[in-house]
Amino acid sequence: MKVHGKSFRSIWRDPSQHGVRIIDQTLLPFAFEEKQLVSMEQAVDAIRGMRVRGAPLIGVTAAYGVALAMREDGSNTALDRACRQLQATRPTAVNLAWALARMKATLTPLDPLDREAAAWHLADELAEEDVATNAAIGRHGAVLLKSLHQQHGRTVNVLTHCNAGWIATVDWGTALSAIYHAHDEGTPVHVWVEETRPRNQGLLTAWELREHGVPHTYIVDNAGGHLMQHGQVDIVLVGADRVSRRGDVANKIGTYLKALSARDNDIPFYAAVPSSTIDWNLNDALAEIEIEQRHADEVRILRGRSHDGLTRDIQLLDPATPVANPGFDVTPARLVTGIVTERGIVMPDRLESLFRKST
Ligand code: MRU
Repeated sequence: MKVHGKSFRSIWRDPSQHGVRIIDQTLLPFAFEEKQLVSMEQAVDAIRGMRVRGAPLIGVTAAYGVALAMREDGSNTALDRACRQLQATRPTAVNLAWALARMKATLTPLDPLDREAAAWHLADELAEEDVATNAAIGRHGAVLLKSLHQQHGRTVNVLTHCNAGWIATVDWGTALSAIYHAHDEGTPVHVWVEETRPRNQGLLTAWELREHGVPHTYIVDNAGGHLMQHGQVDIVLVGADRVSRRGDVANKIGTYLKALSARDNDIPFYAAVPSSTIDWNLNDALAEIEIEQRHADEVRILRGRSHDGLTRDIQLLDPATPVANPGFDVTPARLVTGIVTERGIVMPDRLESLFRKST
């Protein structure tokens, strides 16, 4: 994707071959700064501190984290330790476990001296795979948006929650990939961008859409249902952090409420996901997924830019007020119209037949 006309990915190998570079997402949209990661510990901190975020990007960053660990020490102990520490950063997005499992399966049989080179090679491959997968998701999703445009005979109004854009993946994004592809092909699209309290990932979505020239409007999370009741939303399109084999969708907290509103207003609800986000071991997502509980300060404190141009933290709550901050929720498959994948679009209960038959 382009930022101020220059092509970027959200993670890439440092030209000095000394590590990897990321875009520090905690500083957006006010500052666009690269950050270098030169150790596994820095990769752990970047994921935990949400300098990198979004399920696919977390997975690829973890893969590079293993490569950084192997540069220091290629032993079994170091490999186990790296996978354990990276896995412990964030529990809900399954791409993290998926990427670490692939790294471990490839590296374990190798001589410890050969592990570093193999780790870089595989991490690069996972990054490339992510880009190709998301481009394919975009092409399929664009067909869906085009058909809605033809059906309604006007601009398609998409409502999205959180950020499922290029910055949540290595490139293109998932839900936003469909929007970018549709926009580039000439389908008129307008996006309702939900703020997504408390981390406000909607800021990233609005920033991305502006950079790409896609018309959009920023709304608070509670506005979505009202817009749906008034015919101002044609489709809800989100990403996901984990999808069960039967099509339940775990995504950023608040997604479930949008799916409920969509159903009440006969509006289609789609999730766009790479196959690395599908957890084939998961039957009952509501019962089985560990939902990340994030720090109360994310709710208590607002961060923003003040009149003097400096970034400031503002205390919103009385510190004595108890806070709960679950990071994700589960939308049951019965509320999901379809899932957009790299292999095409299916109803949630057809996911298995799409992927399992030919793998
Ligand atoms: O907590 P985050 O910002 O990592 O959560 C991200 C989301 O919930 C995204 O919607 C999801 O990962 C899809 S990203 C392509």
